[in-house]
Amino acid sequence: MLLSSLLKVVVASLCLGKDGPIIAQKVTQDPEPMLVQEKEAVTLDCTYDTSDLSYSLFWYKQPSSGAVIFLLRQDSHSKENATEGRYSLNFQKASKSITLVISASQLEDSAVYFCALREPTVRRS
Ligand SMILES: *[C@@H]1O[C@H](CO)[C@@H](O)[C@H](O)[C@H]1NC(C)=O
Repeated sequence: MLLSSLLKVVVASLCLGKDGPIIAQKVTQDPEPMLVQEKEAVTLDCTYDTSDLSYSLFWYKQPSSGAVIFLLRQDSHSKENATEGRYSLNFQKASKSITLVISASQLEDSAVYFCALREPTVRRS
């Protein structure tokens, strides 16, 4: 049997509130861990819900070391998908979806990935 390296990725979500990050219902994804063959592309889906016109979306990764690492930011007004190295985003504003694609995956990509929504901090009630 061919021994191949598998990496495990999990997507979680959080909403960045003014009092710090909170796990929120506003961002949803498939919570099941995914096993990915090394070198394959990984697609991590995240949908969110906001009625704000201006907001930012962030992707972070948390490897087993525990450190949380910022990957990418997408502003709602941006006309281009953010990209950085092997990471790229597919931002579909109309369907409120922000997908992270990791190309040429490596074992070091094994991690929990967080999709975060940050709404404007100045709000009227
Ligand atoms: C991101 O890329 C996808 C796929 O090419 C495209 O449909 C979408 O409009 C792009 N989003 C932005 C904000 O450029």
